[in-house]
This record gives sequence, C-alpha cells and structure tokens, in this order.
Amino acid sequence: MSDIVLITGATSGFGRAAARRFAEAGWSLILTGRRAERLADLEKELSDKVAVHTAVLDVRDAEAIKGVVAALPEGFRAVKALINNAGLALAPEPAQKADLDDWHTMIDTNITGLVNVTHALLPTLIETGAGASIVNLGSVAGQWPYPGSHVYGASKAFVQQFSYNLRCDLQGTGVRVTDIAPGMAETEFTLVRTGGDQAASDKLYGDTTPLEAEDIAELICYTVSLPAHVNVNRLEVMPTRQAWSAFAVDRD
Ligand SMILES: NC(=O)c1ccc[n+]([C@@H]2O[C@H](COP(=O)([O-])OP(=O)(O)OC[C@H]3O[C@@H](n4cnc5c(N)ncnc54)[C@H](OP(=O)(O)O)[C@@H]3O)[C@@H](O)[C@H]2O)c1
Repeated sequence: MSDIVLITGATSGFGRAAARRFAEAGWSLILTGRRAERLADLEKELSDKVAVHTAVLDVRDAEAIKGVVAALPEGFRAVKALINNAGLALAPEPAQKADLDDWHTMIDTNITGLVNVTHALLPTLIETGAGASIVNLGSVAGQWPYPGSHVYGASKAFVQQFSYNLRCDLQGTGVRVTDIAPGMAETEFTLVRTGGDQAASDKLYGDTTPLEAEDIAELICYTVSLPAHVNVNRLEVMPTRQAWSAFAVDRD
C-alpha cells in the first residue's frame, strides 16, 4: 500500500507543486483548499498516476476539519505525512496603516488554521508512528524582521516555535516535525498579499531569480522521505540572489 499525504492549500503555489511531486513519488494524495474547481483540476491531472481524494476545506473551520478527517475514505485513513501549507500574507503596508481584519485573517489562517489541522491529525499520525511527519510552512519572516511583515512574520514565528514544541511532546511516538522556512518564492502569494495587483507581483519577482514552487515541493518531499530516524528541525531556504540587508537608521 502506498504512503498517504494530506496537503492543505493544494490549490496553488507550494501546495500544488507538492501534490505533483508526491504523485511522482507514488504517494496517495489527500488534497485540500477552498477552491473546489482547482482541486477538481488537480484530481483530474493526477488521478491517472496515484489515488487522489479531495476535500474543500477552510482551515479556519475546526469542525469542518474534524468532518474531513472522519470522512476519509478507506485507503486514505492512515495518513503518514501532514503538510501544513495553507497560509497567506495580507496588508503589505506598515502596521499603523494595516486593516485589523487583515491581521485577524492572517492569525486565523496561519496560526489557528495550522493548529486546527494539526490537532485533528495528531491521533492518526501517532498511530502511523515511525516515519510519520508533520511539515509546517513557516517563513524567513518568522525569524527576520522587515517593514510590512508585522503580523505575518509574527504568525510564522509561531509556526517555528510550535514546530519545535511539538517535537518535544511527540518524543517517543516516532512522529517527526519540520519547519520549512522559505524566502522569496514566486507563487500567488504576492497577488494575494496585494489584493490582486499583478504589476506589484511581477515587479517583486522581476529582474531576479526567485525560488519556484517546485523548489520547495522538492524539499518537502525530501524531508518526509528521509529514513524514519532522521528529523529535520528547520530548513531555511532563500534564493541565491536574496540576502539580508543593513539595519535601518532614522537620521535627522
Ligand atoms: N511564496 C513565498 O514567498 C512564501 C515564502 C515563505 C512562506 N510562504 C508560505 O508558504 C505557504 C504557501 O504559500 P504560497 O506561496 O504557495 O502561496 P499561494 O500560491 O497563495 O498558495 C496559498 C495556498 O493556501 C491556501 N489557503 C489560503 N487560505 C486558506 C484557508 N483559509 N483555508 C484553506 N486554504 C487556504 C490557498 O488555497 P485556497 O485559496 O484555494 O483556499 C492556496 O492553495 C503559506 O503558508 C505561505 O505563508 C510563502
């Protein structure tokens, strides 16, 4: 029987690329996201290769997640890898100009949503035992501050610490936990962050070489495919052409 992976946010970016990469590796796929049409397209694309189950899911809805887990069909229940990928940044402006609703949406998705899914899948992953994995999508923004990162970066700092703390509690169960923290990667991320501003997205990713969704998908699949005794705690990865900058100093 093939291994089973559950991916949140499989309708775009890293999640969709990960679905394709896991299919290549022969895993059975549980693909979730809010956009039903995209899930259907992906199922159509991949179901010739591997078994695919899709579920429309908003990770902010804890009851819906329980429902999805309880309704997993035979053959999809023994989940071996959970990829907590669904997430978003909003409000690129400074904190003092940001909309409070946007802050709440980031907290509800990146923190509450990730916690909801993890809590619902923990019993299954523990039952799977040795070799099971949780991969959480953090960000360089969780470690390194920059203007306009306010709640987004803070939510990813939560992801890192939650990942580390989970490792402590899961000691002895065989379940591994990894925080993958990418830098700039070209996906729909900036379109979402800017409310659909294609020019802003093109400008950010233009004239340089950002990470591609496939780069992160490769790392996700690699991490969970390592021998059961190997736990990657955190993987921080940037484009070669991205690095840190100097401290900002306010001068007269
Ligand atoms: N791209 C980057 O530069 C970058 C860097 C570091 C970390 N990350 C992180 O990587 C993850 C994936 O981002 P991406 O770059 O692939 O962006 P993306 O292309 O915008 O994909 C985000 C995915 O998250 C899903 N999603 C958002 N809100 C959701 C909700 N409430 N419930 C369920 N699914 C939801 C979206 O699906 P639906 O809209 O269909 O629900 C979509 O599939 C995020 O956690 C992001 O913070 C991205």
